[in-house]
Amino acid sequence: MSDFTELNRQYFRAEFRQGQELIFNEVQGRRSWVSDIWSDTELGKGHKVRMLEYACGPGAISAALAPFVDQIVGMDVSEEMIKQFNINAQETGFEDKMVGYHGDLLAESVPVDLSGPEFYDFDLVVVSMALHHFDKPDLALKRLGERLKKGGMFLIIDMVPEDKHSPHGLHNAFPEASATIRIHGFTLEHMQKLFKDAGMGQKFDYQVIQEPVVFNKEGKEIKKTIFIARAQRN
Ligand SMILES: C[S@@+](CC[C@H](N)C(=O)[O-])C[C@H]1O[C@@H](n2cnc3c(N)ncnc32)[C@H](O)[C@@H]1O
Repeated sequence: MSDFTELNRQYFRAEFRQGQELIFNEVQGRRSWVSDIWSDTELGKGHKVRMLEYACGPGAISAALAPFVDQIVGMDVSEEMIKQFNINAQETGFEDKMVGYHGDLLAESVPVDLSGPEFYDFDLVVVSMALHHFDKPDLALKRLGERLKKGGMFLIIDMVPEDKHSPHGLHNAFPEASATIRIHGFTLEHMQKLFKDAGMGQKFDYQVIQEPVVFNKEGKEIKKTIFIARAQRN
């Protein structure tokens, strides 16, 4: 694990709840835009629909999509987040299909226990509010894109670069959180290039979500505009 990833692991030992409800609703509402292979769609019939949520945290996206897939693998470098993910799976009644694993797929060498067939060939890979925490976002998309089936969809939710909702930036409001961030947001052009270079050059789209995510800590508040982007593996 790199020093930067270790900093993230330490930081995300606490509970994380920011923006969970907004993201849950935005993803569920865009399900048919994300993919046309779900357990209740024509193309998903007779098919075991499988999804990976990487850097899953407590698993807001997994909970939003669990009713429409057959299996979800959650993965995170924080043991505490995986504990919360698995509690969330139980509380929402999806523990049979939604299981979280502690792991780092972006490490220099990927652990053997995360290299079996059960960790490949996903129909959908999701990374929400985490790409900006990765040391090398380009490497992350390559590594995670390889876990998709050909034709599988990749979904990213992240911050739009500095915007009208945060004129003083995250750094001034939350310096500790800011130290865990490598890139403060991704433009449409940047996302398109990251996807294309990682072998996901098809069906690209990037939509800005109108309602900002509100971060609250120690009496301070900051609003960030986020986007949702998708692409398909070639
Ligand atoms: C801001 S939280 C987002 C959690 C969740 N995806 C969501 O949308 O609510 C960022 C998450 O990324 C995880 N993370 C950071 N670096 C990581 C890495 N290299 N590999 C896996 N997870 C990582 C953190 O532990 C944390 O759970």
